[in-house]
Amino acid sequence: MNTKVLFQDGAAFQTPLLAVFAVDVAVGKDADPMPALLTTSDAVSEAAAVALGSGEFKAGSCETLLLHAPNGVKAERLLVIGLGKVGKLSVHEVRKGAGTAVRFCKPRGVRELAIAFPEDHALSDEHLEALPCDLTTRAIVEGAELAELDWDTYKSDRKDTSVSLCTIVAKDVEKTTKAEIQKGLEEGLAVAAAQNFTRGLVNEPGNVLTPTELGKRAAAMCAEAGLQCEVFSTAKLHELGMGAFWAVSQGSVEPPALIVMTYEPVGGVAEGSPVLGLVGKGITFDTGGISIKPADGMEKMKYDMAGAGAMIGAMKAIAALKPKVKVISVVCSAENMPDGKAFKPGDVVTAMSGKTIEIVNTDAEGRLVLADGLHYAKTLGCTHLINAATLTGAVAIALGKLNVGLFSNSDETAELFMAGLKASGEKYWRLPCTDDYKDQIKSAIADIQNTGITRYGGSITAAMFLKEFVGDTPWIHLDIAACAWLDEAQPWIAKGPSGIGVRSILEWARSYSS
Ligand code: BES
Ligand code: ZN
Ligand code: ZN
Repeated sequence: MNTKVLFQDGAAFQTPLLAVFAVDVAVGKDADPMPALLTTSDAVSEAAAVALGSGEFKAGSCETLLLHAPNGVKAERLLVIGLGKVGKLSVHEVRKGAGTAVRFCKPRGVRELAIAFPEDHALSDEHLEALPCDLTTRAIVEGAELAELDWDTYKSDRKDTSVSLCTIVAKDVEKTTKAEIQKGLEEGLAVAAAQNFTRGLVNEPGNVLTPTELGKRAAAMCAEAGLQCEVFSTAKLHELGMGAFWAVSQGSVEPPALIVMTYEPVGGVAEGSPVLGLVGKGITFDTGGISIKPADGMEKMKYDMAGAGAMIGAMKAIAALKPKVKVISVVCSAENMPDGKAFKPGDVVTAMSGKTIEIVNTDAEGRLVLADGLHYAKTLGCTHLINAATLTGAVAIALGKLNVGLFSNSDETAELFMAGLKASGEKYWRLPCTDDYKDQIKSAIADIQNTGITRYGGSITAAMFLKEFVGDTPWIHLDIAACAWLDEAQPWIAKGPSGIGVRSILEWARSYSS
């Protein structure tokens, strides 16, 4: 899709469909909804006046109202898109609204659309503060670009529902605002391309995307983006003493991949500056191993590499947006299979850090590969660590499928991450990993065991396990198991891989830019 910005009056723009946002400005709990268009165009307002006055359209979040041949407007159709209550307006609502516009067009064969930049007619200054120009433009672009994708590459009878052109129409404004909008466009395109790259990786079936293939795709991305990349396999795991990572991999005929991507800002950074370590769980298929999973739903375990996908996508975005901070990503990729050579419950393995681990359940494999990935990232000089992983089913029990579980050993680091959510629009909820939970991973035979003594707080137990390998290094663990795959299509995005993490990890990295 070609997404661009044009500075002109929306009503005078010739397009098959012009999308305009609306908010509900009614105050009071029981007041009837009062939709107000976010446009300064009198022609657009007049064309929609009768329909809006009918009470049919309430400007609820992602609600749509289509008008054909709108009077006094050059567009063939006018699509009004609700952004919900004005008091709750956010950049992310705009992102979802733009996505809704594109996904409205796709099944209807509308190949080109325009989206009217939300303007201040109906809004007080207080509400405009929620929509800074650059972030709003970024959100429109991201929403539109993410919405364009459908996961039908493996269908032989797929229909072409592509949208080829999305023009953001903003009124001719002063130079500084124009520059902000332009910056938002460029950033939005880079971020969306990175997130869509991640989604494409996560969508791939396990027979296509093996650890070796993941390594190849990461290397190809790095070559294009100007990042350094090294992809290692079995020999390197043995050389580094990555006994935990190797234990998971040893039951598969597919060799593991240890992917190391490095971003260095042009001109370098001052001595002692932070070095960020992005560590990803890349299990390209998780059968559970000898502690095998039930057959029902096992096919979904191809997305057990979504943490790796998020980090590879974040590196692509970082390469494009060039923050002044060094970033190293370590992806640990393997297939978790049952086999004559597979690791077994009761085995004791030694991690790269020297810690011994009793394997109680081979299905708790993500924490094993991450244990070595996190330790290795420290040896590469990382001063701040973040990992993303589809780590536990329990996180969906704790938080549902709306919030990612966030764990951290550092309030300051966690707060920096949370501060980026205004721009990213993703949702994270912090859960505890204080030392009171440490007893859960006590082993009778080794230093620690890989599952909890009880099954309560399973996501916290997993976080406690990871914490053993980060020491005093400030660290964030994102358990994305419940949010990396959308079981249902949303008005703004297709069902399937969500690409969760890319936008927020990018913002976190940018917050260390000197
Ligand atoms: N990959 C799974 C976690 C998962 C579950 C991801 C559902 C996405 C959706 C992980 O490796 C796993 O199997 N975890 C076990 C841990 C248990 C054995 C302690 C789980 O959550 O059941
Ligand atoms: Zn597992
Ligand atoms: Zn897993």
